[in-house]
Amino acid sequence: MTKRIAVLASGRGSNFQAVIDAIREGMVPAECVALITDNPQAYAIGRARAAEIPVMVVEYDSFSAREAYERALLSVMQQCNADLFVLAGYMRIVGNEIVQAFFGRMINIHPALLPAFPGLHGQRQALLHGVKVSGCTVHFVDENLDGGPVIVQRCVPVLEGDDEDTLAVRILKQEHRCLPEAIRLFCEGRLHIEGRTVRIV
Ligand code: GRF
Repeated sequence: MTKRIAVLASGRGSNFQAVIDAIREGMVPAECVALITDNPQAYAIGRARAAEIPVMVVEYDSFSAREAYERALLSVMQQCNADLFVLAGYMRIVGNEIVQAFFGRMINIHPALLPAFPGLHGQRQALLHGVKVSGCTVHFVDENLDGGPVIVQRCVPVLEGDDEDTLAVRILKQEHRCLPEAIRLFCEGRLHIEGRTVRIV
């Protein structure tokens, strides 16, 4: 039942680390077969090396056009032969061709309770809106930005005096629980997409 997963990350990679740790602890029946990154400076690369996970760099800036980058990324993703692709702090919009190639097999983590506050700076948007509760969402990726069927959500309070950093830290703690949980459910074959709804069986 062990599934092959590949993680896409652009930066720090703390969610990637949470996934590595959960697999190592036997909580997720998966093997992480690759880290794919668009950023050769990503801190996540060191985390992959430390865990002996192959790194594939598709450097965005080395392509003259977005389409060429997307084609190269698609081809690298196909080579991975993964059952599941996990966007964990991958900071680019995924093109339609990739979405279509992997619909139902690609998930993303977002630092807000979707459909509220999609796009960049979910925590800042929550503060600016004055909500009392925010959180994180793991969802399947479809062609709408942060818009696909929701798998798992966790909420946190927004406290008096919070700034973007304090709220981000509180949400991140929950992200590190949510993402491995969603991957586990996927790997156990328990996620069924029915329209907008993900049924967990
Ligand atoms: C997380 O807040 C994630 O939800 C968002 O980008 C951040 C990435 O953090 N998409 P990290 O790279 O996993 O530490």
